[in-house]
Amino acid sequence: MNAVAANFPHARPRRLRRSAALRELVAETRLSVNDLVAPLFVREGISAPQPILSLPGVMQHTVASLLDEVRLLVRLGVKAVILFGVPAHKDAIGSGAFDPQGIVQVALRALHAEFGDRIVLMSDTCVDEYTDHGHCGVLDAHGQVDNDLTLDLYARAAVAQADAGSHVVAPSGMMDGQVGAIRAALDAAGHTGVAILAYSAKYASGLYGPFRDAVDVQIADGGDRKGYQQDWRNAREALTEVEADIAQGADMVMVKPALSYLDVIVAVRALTNLPVAAYHVSGEYAMIKAAAANGWIDHDVVALEQLTAIKRAGADVILTYFTRWFAERAAAQASGDPSASTPGGAL
Ligand code: PBG
Repeated sequence: MNAVAANFPHARPRRLRRSAALRELVAETRLSVNDLVAPLFVREGISAPQPILSLPGVMQHTVASLLDEVRLLVRLGVKAVILFGVPAHKDAIGSGAFDPQGIVQVALRALHAEFGDRIVLMSDTCVDEYTDHGHCGVLDAHGQVDNDLTLDLYARAAVAQADAGSHVVAPSGMMDGQVGAIRAALDAAGHTGVAILAYSAKYASGLYGPFRDAVDVQIADGGDRKGYQQDWRNAREALTEVEADIAQGADMVMVKPALSYLDVIVAVRALTNLPVAAYHVSGEYAMIKAAAANGWIDHDVVALEQLTAIKRAGADVILTYFTRWFAERAAAQASGDPSASTPGGAL
């Protein structure tokens, strides 16, 4: 016998990597279509869906094309979508976010009428898509976002979304107290069954660029969101945010973005037994698309590797623009299409 092997009789992990079947048998993490949420954009005042250049494969939908897309996702077994609205008109307080005729409310009513409880309807609860200055709240005299005045807008938006059929509202503005304010408003309006997915640890990331193209948001005066979203140097602070949201009634907590914050996902997973979500954001998706388009990386392998890593870190729910791609691939694999098989057997 080889001397090294004799000295390390147990150090032979390669034994379990010898075949795809063995690797499948011992895989610790299995990504499933059930884990994924598709972010979808619906735009007011357009008559045909518009592609988003920086998010290849993602569209600004009309209500009609949104219904088509969700029909397809339901058929593919996708369990949830999250809606973002692009209004025709913006104003200082983002009225479109809570107007019953606002685009997301119109879309939610149409989706709810057709699909009922067959797919989870989530809605992003914020005002930045609807404000003319692009911030996630009302501005005070110094141009700062006023926390407590903004809470009132979020409460109204959440109730409008719930009235329109949203099953899960997802406050993303990082105002202090937003979960409590929304919970109280939902309960007062009789929506005790509507859940809150709290964007609890949301960082002031550079990775939201393509999303801002998707929702036509420019932050006024070259501004940023560092006054309300988290500083990316901080991980412990994320736990304070998560604890606060849980105390205020969050049903699920989210870390966003995902890949640069896997350490935060691990820590949040250890902190709570609530479902943990992670948002694989627009920039993360766009980077894969761009590098793959140049032939620099293998699109499918990297997409699977990254989504699996997010689940491995502890996320139960992953919001990703790859949802439809993944679901189509899983369906092709289930029907025995060999071109859908993945090196490494990640599916
Ligand atoms: C705010 C919101 C943003 C995203 C989700 N909700 C943008 C922001 O905070 O600037 C980003 C999602 C992505 O980049 O995919 N309503």
